[in-house]
Amino acid sequence: MIIKRLAVFVAALFLFACSDEPSITADSQEAASDAKAVLAQASASDGKALYIACQACHGPKGQGNRALNAPSLVNQSPWYLKRQMLAFMEGRRGAHPEDTFGQQMAAIAKTLPDQAAVDALVAYIDSLSGHTPERTVKGDTKKGEDYYTMVCGSCHGPKAEGNELLDSPALAGVDDWYLVRQFELFRKGIRGADDKYGRQMVMMAPALPTDEDVTNVVSYIQSLAEK
Ligand code: HEC
Ligand code: HEC
Repeated sequence: MIIKRLAVFVAALFLFACSDEPSITADSQEAASDAKAVLAQASASDGKALYIACQACHGPKGQGNRALNAPSLVNQSPWYLKRQMLAFMEGRRGAHPEDTFGQQMAAIAKTLPDQAAVDALVAYIDSLSGHTPERTVKGDTKKGEDYYTMVCGSCHGPKAEGNELLDSPALAGVDDWYLVRQFELFRKGIRGADDKYGRQMVMMAPALPTDEDVTNVVSYIQSLAEK
């Protein structure tokens, strides 16, 4: 009986490990090369024209596309989007060999001509209307609320709306599956090791030691977006 259970457990672990393996699909490879072609031609001051390079992955309204691992961008603050774009361009994010999706985004950011193009893009994204992301992570929202209030809210704000003075982005309204993955990257030191902002999160990540804790907190953050 115990052996049988153990076998089921091992098989489940194996399946989990396989499905968890990050990989870039043929679809997203195609989107990436299309994006680079668009960026090579668009005027650096026209955010709308530049955004055509982004929409194959992030969606025409910035709503994200989970199948391509690209998060929604619309509920995020402009100052944070700008900082991330610069981090990708300057190799502070998406440079780690295990950061598969970050590397993909960094390759695209590096084809942007200059900071003016980033400003134009961010202003255009800010003009798109917000949306409530689909719930994909289900945890114990009440337990998550306790943790969130104790550990995360001091920087990310009581409603996870973000706090620019503390360099902390909004979390409410960001795709829940993306938050889980980013937290995992911080915990493993794959994101944030070479970046003074990201390093704060690398230091914070051990505050949620188990995957269940992360699921609970993210589930609470998602509930804030639905209000
Ligand atoms: C080929 C697909 C693809 C294209 C095209 C693309 N992105 Fe991304 N982008 C991604 C992926 C995948 C991620 C998630 C990276 C990660 O998991 O760390 C991402 C992440 C981001 C982030 C970080 C968001 C956050 O909350 O941390 C920003 C900002 C961003 N992209 C902006 C853009 C802009 C602007 C463009 C157009 C110039 C663009 N992207 C084009 C795939 C793409
Ligand atoms: C000391 C302040 C601080 C605390 C406390 C903190 N964070 Fe952060 N967090 C940050 C900063 C700063 C960033 C931006 C990192 C960057 O620019 O790459 C961030 C980024 C994030 C991101 C990435 C968001 C995105 O769109 O890419 C997630 C997810 C996150 N934090 C979750 C949490 C959770 C969950 C907690 C509570 C366990 C928490 N944070 C506690 C400062 C903090």
